[in-house]
Amino acid sequence: MSLPQRVKLVEVGPRDGLQNEKRIVPTAVKIELIERLADSGLSVIEATSFVSPQWVPQMADNSEVLRTLLANPRRPEVSYPVLTPNLRGFDAAVEAGAEEVAIFAAASETFSQKNINCSIAESLKRFAAVADAASALEIRLRGYVSCVVACPYEGAVDPEKTAWVAERLFAMGCHEISLGDTIGAGTPASIRRMIEACGAVVPIDRLAGHYHDTYGMAIANIYASLELGMAVFDSSVAGLGGCPYAVGASGNVASEDVLYLLQGLGIECGVEMGKLLAAGEFISAHLGREPASKVARALLARQSAG
Ligand code: HMG
Ligand code: MG
Repeated sequence: MSLPQRVKLVEVGPRDGLQNEKRIVPTAVKIELIERLADSGLSVIEATSFVSPQWVPQMADNSEVLRTLLANPRRPEVSYPVLTPNLRGFDAAVEAGAEEVAIFAAASETFSQKNINCSIAESLKRFAAVADAASALEIRLRGYVSCVVACPYEGAVDPEKTAWVAERLFAMGCHEISLGDTIGAGTPASIRRMIEACGAVVPIDRLAGHYHDTYGMAIANIYASLELGMAVFDSSVAGLGGCPYAVGASGNVASEDVLYLLQGLGIECGVEMGKLLAAGEFISAHLGREPASKVARALLARQSAG
C-alpha cells in the first residue's frame, strides 16, 4: 500500500510531556510554549488536562492556560483539545471555553485502576456521560486507549481487547481514537497486529498513533502505521514526558523526529522545522536539559557549528 500524502500531527507535549515534570512549570511558560508550537504550523495542540490536581499537580492551572490561549489573538486554524476524565472535568473545561475534549480509557484493567481509579467498565460509563454532554454542546470529542500493546503491570495486551475499547469509544461519538503505546514497548510487528484489529472495527482514517519512545521503537512504529494507511500521529516537542502512572515510561516520540521522517518521505504536515526546533529549545532551556529528540540535537549542533 502507498503511504498517505498528508499527515496530521497532534502535539501533546504541553499535556503529556509536562504532566510528568515534578517541578511546576509557570503558566506563562506553558502558554509561550503552546504559542510557539502554533507558530510552527501545528494545528492541533493538546493544551492541558482537567484532572484532579491532587493526582497531577502540574495541570492545576488548566483553566488559566486554556482561557489565556483562547483570549489571545485567535488562531481559528488551531484547536486546543484538553483531557477530561469525568463530568466534573468536562464542566470545568467548558467553563474555560474548551471546544474539544478527550476521554481516556485503557485496554488493561490494572492500568485503568492506577490511572483513573476505576475499572474499564466504570470508566466507559463515565465517558458515556461526558460524550452525551459534549454532543449536546457540539463539542468535539477525541478518545484515547492506553496500553494498546503492553501494560506496565499486566504485560502483553491482546489486540482484540484494545479493539474492543476503541470500538466502544468510537460508538460514543469520538471523531478520532488515539492508540497509546503508553510504555513504548511495541515493535512494528505488535503495532501492526494491534492496528489491524482496531482497523476491523473503526475506520483507519479515524485512528491515530500515540507512541511513547521508551525503547526507541516509535519512529519504526510510525512507519509501520503509515504503511497501513494511518495518517494521524501524536508527538511531543523535544520528546518531553512520560506518564505519571507508568513508571519508567519515557516521553512521546519527539515531534522533531516525526517531522524529519515525514519530510524525508515527502509527506506533508504543514509544520516548519526551524520554528519547531526553537519551541523545543525554549522548553528544554526552561527545564534545564537537552531535548530528547535526536533530530533536534543533530540540527541544533549543525546550526551552532555555523
Ligand atoms: P478519584 O479520586 O477516584 O475521584 O479520581 P473522586 O470522584 O473520588 O474524587 C476525588 C477528589 O477529586 C474530589 O475532591 C473530587 O472533587 C476531585 P475532594 O472532594 O476530595 O476535594 N475531582 C476532580 N478535581 C478536578 N478535576 C476533576 C476531578 N474529578 C474529581 N476532573 C480521577 C478520579 C479520574 C479524577 C483521578 O484519578 C485523576 O484525576 N487521575 C489523573 C489521571 C491522569 O491525568 N493521568 C495522566 C493522563 S492519561 C495519559 O497520560 C495516557 C495518554 O497519554 C495515552 C497513553 O500514553 O497511553 C492519554
Ligand atoms: Mg501518552
